[in-house]
Amino acid sequence: MSGVNAGASPAFSTTKNSKAGTKTFCVSVIGATGAVGREVIQLLEKRNFPISQLRLFCSERSAGEKFQFCGQTLAAQTIDREALAGSDYAILCADAATARALAPMLVELNIIAVDNSSAFRTDPAIPLVVPEINGEMLKGKPILVANPNCTTIISLMVAAPLHRVAQLERMTACSYQAVSGAGLAGMHELESQTRAWAAGEKVAGQLFPRPILFNVFPHNSPRQPDGSNEEEHKLVRESRRILGHDHLRISATCVRVPTLRAHAVALHLEFANAISPVQALDILAHAPGVRVVDESNGDQPADPQMVSGLDEVLVSRIRVDHGGAPGKSLALWVVGDQLLKGAALNAVQIVEQLIAD
Ligand SMILES: NC(=O)c1ccc[n+]([C@@H]2O[C@H](COP(=O)([O-])OP(=O)(O)OC[C@H]3O[C@@H](n4cnc5c(N)ncnc54)[C@H](OP(=O)(O)O)[C@@H]3O)[C@@H](O)[C@H]2O)c1
Repeated sequence: MSGVNAGASPAFSTTKNSKAGTKTFCVSVIGATGAVGREVIQLLEKRNFPISQLRLFCSERSAGEKFQFCGQTLAAQTIDREALAGSDYAILCADAATARALAPMLVELNIIAVDNSSAFRTDPAIPLVVPEINGEMLKGKPILVANPNCTTIISLMVAAPLHRVAQLERMTACSYQAVSGAGLAGMHELESQTRAWAAGEKVAGQLFPRPILFNVFPHNSPRQPDGSNEEEHKLVRESRRILGHDHLRISATCVRVPTLRAHAVALHLEFANAISPVQALDILAHAPGVRVVDESNGDQPADPQMVSGLDEVLVSRIRVDHGGAPGKSLALWVVGDQLLKGAALNAVQIVEQLIAD
């Protein structure tokens, strides 16, 4: 393995020497026992990732939990320096505080990391990447890459290809976010509330501030001084950063709904240049990672159940937005599995591209 970058500052540098010539890689998944980590393990096998060894890490709570990977049984363990040493890549699927605490050690150990948390997304020295949109950010061989917010990835997979052609000026995004966006505990909460309701018992919120069963409410992330919730702020600032469009006008309303996985977003886009729904459909039909559901063929618009487990983001209901500038405004319905393209898949794709570059 090549040496650690000299002069890492403050805690780490953001580039690492090439690993050209290495054919298989040792990968550590940190937060392997969570909703995103489990998907990463499955994707590494499904995508035939060139792996020499897989190491799984979690907190003390789940230590010892076993996973099947390529015919082997692997147990997740708590993080320690010795167990991490020698990894080529780490995919972090834990919380932001754990990611911040761990990053200096990963850099010191010369382990290239992709972090799913929000810890590094606003750091201008750390690329925030969706490979289909701004994959060129990986050319500089970063040692740490931030995976964007899930609703942002899903929205931009559709907005970005249209932006490239017609120059996006304003985006309004209203989200319908699954409980798994809050991790495994979010799924367990909806399932246990469903069981309680079926048994005629009282349904009460624990992780979420109120019952999610038969309910919708504004996203449960912290309220910001301007009245937005944190998820809405992430959508605004991360969209601007990924598109390289600092002044993009964005309105966001993020809402939690009682679906288990896959987020839906009602997108309203206004462009500088003329664009019709027919042109948009053609552009999106050729966009990597996007699948158009064309209702003129008699297909039903996409929904979270249809998209769960799919790599692609589905777009349907591509139509004129009559509330926007005439000839330049579109309304679309976008649905994507946020555990996959909104988190695990995007992270694995980043590592794949780092290896290929
Ligand atoms: N869920 C999504 O849709 C989604 C989308 C985009 C980004 N993200 C981000 O991805 C990350 C993981 O989310 P998730 O939904 O998978 O959460 P989760 O289901 O709650 O899983 C969290 C994982 O982190 C581990 N962990 C917690 N503290 C740790 C510590 N001190 N040391 C080592 N491991 C620790 C947990 O281990 P234990 O099992 O031992 O507790 C578990 O494996 C979060 O930062 C989240 O914001 C999630």
